[in-house]
Amino acid sequence: MEVGPRDGLQNEPAVVETRAKLAFIEALVGAGLTRIEITAFVNPRWIPALADQAEVARGARAHPGVRYAALVPNVKGYEAATSSGVHEVAIFLAATDGHNQKNINCSTAEALSRYREVTARAHADGRPFRAYVSCAFGCPYEGKVAPGRVVDLVGKLLALGAYEVSIGDTIGVGNPRQTVELVRALKDVAPLDRLALHLHDTRGTALANIAAALDEGVCSFDSSAGGLGGCPYAPGASGNVATEDLVYMLEGMGVRTGVDLDKLVRASLALEDALGRRLPSKVLAAMRSACA
Ligand code: HMG
Ligand code: MG
Repeated sequence: MEVGPRDGLQNEPAVVETRAKLAFIEALVGAGLTRIEITAFVNPRWIPALADQAEVARGARAHPGVRYAALVPNVKGYEAATSSGVHEVAIFLAATDGHNQKNINCSTAEALSRYREVTARAHADGRPFRAYVSCAFGCPYEGKVAPGRVVDLVGKLLALGAYEVSIGDTIGVGNPRQTVELVRALKDVAPLDRLALHLHDTRGTALANIAAALDEGVCSFDSSAGGLGGCPYAPGASGNVATEDLVYMLEGMGVRTGVDLDKLVRASLALEDALGRRLPSKVLAAMRSACA
């Protein structure tokens, strides 16, 4: 799942023009990405960088086999997202009350009750939805997070009907051993084909954690072109694992991704121009001059 246009751009201090966002999404599709989280239908006062969510969702060109997703925090967001034409939505909450309170202004229990309403609507509409559990490896407000809290929430989100739950290392504190322990604990409640990992690469451990999770049988990973990203309500959270770095590693290991690395690098380079800064992906740095 490419999350650059949402998770990446939500954290940019410079607001990227809608036109440049749409060109970025189109370039990502051209590079072979087929699942793209394009925006979030959250309160624009909380996330000003995504205030053009409806224009982005309406403007993103349809392509056969390509699915566009959007984050929704409540029924209001769900209604706006679905009337703007996204194919699927994603609900999101953290494993801790501390982060939920800062990020979505409610407790974990209140978030679950909001999402019961959202998912009831999605069921009635036949709309697929994904779910996130953030701060699964550690919380900026509460510190260590016991795997049992993550397992409990994942079980509840799957029971609500999420087709996949993405486990977030929101502040990039995890390590491969912790990843293996968490994935093994999750196997009790979740079939492996309904789990994904969403790893911010704040401390450079994301690829190692993905390699460990692959060995455990996980095969769905979120990433951001160029390594864009972060959560404005998680101090210190930097970008997601870069799609370039992930694709390079997986293809080198013989895992087919369907992504054309040269085209992806060009998509990130064009976005760098729009942002006026270089993105942190290591593979992008290595290929920058050859693809420019
Ligand atoms: P609230 O202020 O508690 O909401 O915000 P409220 O219900 O009291 O309503 C207050 C105002 O918000 C009202 O407007 C509502 O209409 C409006 P007013 O009458 O004052 O003009 N409102 C909305 N506007 C647009 N879209 C909506 C919406 N809902 C209410 N959907 C709310 C609660 C959840 C809306 C707010 O806290 C919010 O938008 N939070 C989102 C923050 C966010 O997007 N954070 C980054 C997400 S990244 C993440 O969480 C991690 C992830 O990447 C995984 C990982 O890394 O681990 C997913
Ligand atoms: Mg994130």
